[in-house]
Amino acid sequence: MEGLRELLIEELKDLYSAEKQIVKALPKIIRGANSDELKMAITEHLEVTNGQIARLDQVFGQLEEKPKAKQCKGMEGLLEEGSEVLSEEEKSALRDLQLIGAAQRVEHYEVAAYGTARAMAEQLGLTDAVELLAETLAEEEEADKKLTEVAEALYNEVNTADSGEESDEEDEDGAEGEEENVESKASSRKAGAQKKTAPKKKMAGSRR
Ligand SMILES: [Fe+2]
Repeated sequence: MEGLRELLIEELKDLYSAEKQIVKALPKIIRGANSDELKMAITEHLEVTNGQIARLDQVFGQLEEKPKAKQCKGMEGLLEEGSEVLSEEEKSALRDLQLIGAAQRVEHYEVAAYGTARAMAEQLGLTDAVELLAETLAEEEEADKKLTEVAEALYNEVNTADSGEESDEEDEDGAEGEEENVESKASSRKAGAQKKTAPKKKMAGSRR
């Protein structure tokens, strides 16, 4: 059983890092969100995420391990993609939809990771840890659902705007023509941003 216990600790370190990256990233997303509903949903999830970190502390405690983070590269990549959305696009309902796509990717990553950790804790007979991990898992699923709801309202908004204005298509073409430009600007910005702190976001991406 010692081997599985070590695996669980590795999973927890990865999650600890992931959650901490998310906490850093969320304020930027909140500022970047256009819709109040999205701002609210993410603000709420920021609070929830702090509680999830506290739960991970408890789980480490139950394993008599010091809480420790090991850089979660998966989350780092997901958050980086989300921050590209912020740097490359202007605030709009469409950009909100992109942010939601990124945020839901984050949620799904977490759902997978907590599901794994919970299963391992179950195998190890760590009843209290199972309960704590299951609570967080339920919150992540809830956050994903909430994001889907916000997206649905935004789709209505975008569709209404599209049917009212033909110029929207031109906007899209224009944006596409500039893609290369935007990309090089974004990479120089990114290079600058990376020096300061890891990109932050929290996003998720699922298609439902
Ligand atoms: Fe989380």
